Amino acid sequence: MQMQGNVAVVTGAGSGIGRQIALSFAREGARLAICDIDMAAAGRVVGELEEAGAEAMAVEMDVTSEEAVNSGVDAVARRFGRIDTMVSNAGIQIVHPIEDFPYADFRRLLAIHLDGSFLLTKACVKHMYPQKSGSLIYMGSVHSHEASALKSAYVAAKHGILGLSRVMAKEGAKHGVRANTICPGFVKTPLVEKQIPEQAASLNISEKEVVDRVMLGGTVDQEFTTMEDVAEIAVFLAGFRSNALTGQSIVPSHGWYMA
Ligand SMILES: NC(=O)c1ccc[n+]([C@@H]2O[C@H](COP(=O)([O-])OP(=O)(O)OC[C@H]3O[C@@H](n4cnc5c(N)ncnc54)[C@H](O)[C@@H]3O)[C@@H](O)[C@H]2O)c1
Repeated sequence: MQMQGNVAVVTGAGSGIGRQIALSFAREGARLAICDIDMAAAGRVVGELEEAGAEAMAVEMDVTSEEAVNSGVDAVARRFGRIDTMVSNAGIQIVHPIEDFPYADFRRLLAIHLDGSFLLTKACVKHMYPQKSGSLIYMGSVHSHEASALKSAYVAAKHGILGLSRVMAKEGAKHGVRANTICPGFVKTPLVEKQIPEQAASLNISEKEVVDRVMLGGTVDQEFTTMEDVAEIAVFLAGFRSNALTGQSIVPSHGWYMA
């Protein structure tokens, strides 16, 4: 097992990609903090993990609240004694053409993705630096590298996350802390299911066209990336032992973006 004894903090772990990362980490021997604003969802994932024999705790955390992030991360360190892996994954999607994009929605999206990643990083390195080890994993997107219409806030946030991750590779190195970003293509999760009818309405095309053309048109084989694909890369990054792999982005996207 690649993560025996490893303590991992995963935000947005109540659903989708975050939940799958937590399940895959547990299978590799990790102890898990399931952090989410949706406490009922976090509790359900903790139940699944405990049933599988893993140690896990649910942490109620709005990643935009400095107080909630700091107290949540400290509670994890108190319970498990250390923090080895951070997965900054909580996120939302809001699509509008810019002329109709409410400023409040732009700021809310930026706050969850970007302020949340900053706050979580700051809270976790406090525990990682003294122990001289740690792996910071950020959930970017193909939209950390590419742009799509209607996604001004999301593309700006995901480019920003990549920048933060690269800075952390430089700042963390002397403390034995690595930082990398996973940049998936479209993965069928609640976040994406919700976008299909929204984009169909905004672009005035059918839902099938949204999937075939907008979401998968740039892939080499018209296939969705899976939650398991993303989780497998997270396990690899969490278990990697040296700074040889830091400051990188890994792009599971069926060739949509070729780095
Ligand atoms: N699904 C995709 O196609 C795809 C592709 C690339 C990147 N991503 C990224 O992966 C991450 C997870 O997305 P997903 O598709 O699994 O979505 P999801 O909607 O299934 O899960 C997101 C989780 O984040 C939580 N969350 C939302 N706001 C929060 C907040 N303020 N504080 C704490 N938790 C909060 C939600 O409660 C939910 O449990 C996001 O960062 C997303 O941008 C998704």
